[in-house]
Amino acid sequence: MQLIVADDHEAMSREAARAIAEVLKRKPGASIVIPTGNTPLQTYRELVQLYKRGEFTTAQLRPFQLDEYLGLPADDSRSFFGWVRRTFLEPLDIPVERLIRLNGETDEPEAACRAYDAAVQQAGGFDLAILGLGSNGHLAFNEPPSDPQSPTRRVALTEASITSDGAYWGGRELVPRYALTCGMTHLLAALQILLLVSGQAKQAILEKTISAPITPEVPASYLQQSPNVVVIADKAAWPQAVPY
Ligand code: PGA
Repeated sequence: MQLIVADDHEAMSREAARAIAEVLKRKPGASIVIPTGNTPLQTYRELVQLYKRGEFTTAQLRPFQLDEYLGLPADDSRSFFGWVRRTFLEPLDIPVERLIRLNGETDEPEAACRAYDAAVQQAGGFDLAILGLGSNGHLAFNEPPSDPQSPTRRVALTEASITSDGAYWGGRELVPRYALTCGMTHLLAALQILLLVSGQAKQAILEKTISAPITPEVPASYLQQSPNVVVIADKAAWPQAVPY
């Protein structure tokens, strides 16, 4: 695990966008899993700037959704599908049909998860997993406790996630209670993992993710065991000296 500490959120976002662009230069057909959340928004804007300067192309990029609320139509303003479309796909000229969805608009969540798994397998796994860090240590919606074998599945959101997602939508009552999540197995097997962490509110959980004993109670702590993990944090999230 490598830890890069950037001065602030903007610098973290530039660093992250450069790292993603490097993957796409090397492998234009890379399969990449794309998170929502506030943390990567500026990274995506920086990435679009690099794209517009011609640093990489997106014609072959294979995007995968990371997680999705269960039971929302795709055109609901809270749908993660819509969020990925607005912030990543459209600005990078990627046709929305190319996104491998985790389809939360279904009465058969199990079948939706197996269809997603089949697509990940067909792609040969992820070349790059871009991830944010939940304030409770979740990766995607692999809520605590989640072990490294956790499959793609339907999950009940924890109180912590309902509270933090409530900030996106104007209240806890607006947060769906169930979601589909890409499993830990796929994420941990990605050839490269980029964990983006920003802000003082993430200090304590980032410390646990990097330095505390590995435990299902902090699913992100399993990243300590994965060889190709780069954590890009800002100083607000990691104010101490870099430990190694
Ligand atoms: P955030 O969410 O980027 O909005 O902090 C991260 C997450 O919950 O995974």
